[in-house]
Amino acid sequence: MKKNVFVFSRLSPEHQQRLRHNFNVTLLDPAGDIDAQYASALPEAHGLLGVGRPFGRAQLERAGRLEVISTISVGYDNYELAYLNERGILLTNTPDVLTETTADLGFTLLMAAARRVPELDAWVKAGHWQAPVGPAQFGSDVHGKTLGILGLGNIGAAIARRGRFGFNMEVLYSGNSRKPALEQELGARYCGFDELLGEADFVVLVVPLSAQTRHLIGRRELALMKPSAILVNVARGPVVDEAALVEALQNGQIRAAGLDVYEKEPLRESPLFALPNVVTLPHVGSATHETRQAMAELALDNLERALLGGTPRHRVNPQVRAR
Ligand code: GLV
Repeated sequence: MKKNVFVFSRLSPEHQQRLRHNFNVTLLDPAGDIDAQYASALPEAHGLLGVGRPFGRAQLERAGRLEVISTISVGYDNYELAYLNERGILLTNTPDVLTETTADLGFTLLMAAARRVPELDAWVKAGHWQAPVGPAQFGSDVHGKTLGILGLGNIGAAIARRGRFGFNMEVLYSGNSRKPALEQELGARYCGFDELLGEADFVVLVVPLSAQTRHLIGRRELALMKPSAILVNVARGPVVDEAALVEALQNGQIRAAGLDVYEKEPLRESPLFALPNVVTLPHVGSATHETRQAMAELALDNLERALLGGTPRHRVNPQVRAR
């Protein structure tokens, strides 16, 4: 008998068809009653596929048949892992395929904030360009500066490579473990957290969100940064105390920020909107046609393997075995 899969995110018609080949598929209708759809689908579901919704004890207590959740993301802070482990529910994710795309976006934000791209674009379109530009429109150099990476994992390393080899930047990193191979490859220098904050011209956040990294950057940390420094966040919003960041940007404590993620998403209203020295993107780190396609393929593959008797390629909690 076919197992039941509940898809809670948008899925292309081709992927829907592929899924229907092996499973009874229910798709969430975003225009319908969301809670009612979850209430009827979860008790029946053997597998869940999607991204962007929290799942833990509160949501899954009635999901008695659930074997696997396949998230279409690399990050898994939306999932209450201890509860999934207790229940024997496997969680799979989609790393690697989004590494270079997310690094592109991280570097885009860094450059856009440094050279004030959105601000000057709006300025030109508003008809303000009536004479050659002066210091009021000048930005900051990127090449040759110091790039501080917090979270030198795959994406962090890909951003560091862009800085080192594309822009001749000095790379600093901090964290729980040293990465000798990256130190060798990039000439990256391992240093203390406070030292990195004090020395970097660009502080780029790429750490996963956890109890340890929530509000990693707050008032104290922003005060340690140079007044000329730029903060880039492509990790998760709660890694930064957003109220403290707003204050720091308002007071000129740091020069600018490039943000892809926020404490509360979608960001509908925010004091950030009034600040010209912040570039705001709508959580698009991996959002290219090619990469989102690759992520969906990988998430489907993970789900199929988990429910049809294979071993998924990317298991977050491999100690749990799919039934
Ligand atoms: C994006 O934020 C992801 O975790 O894939």
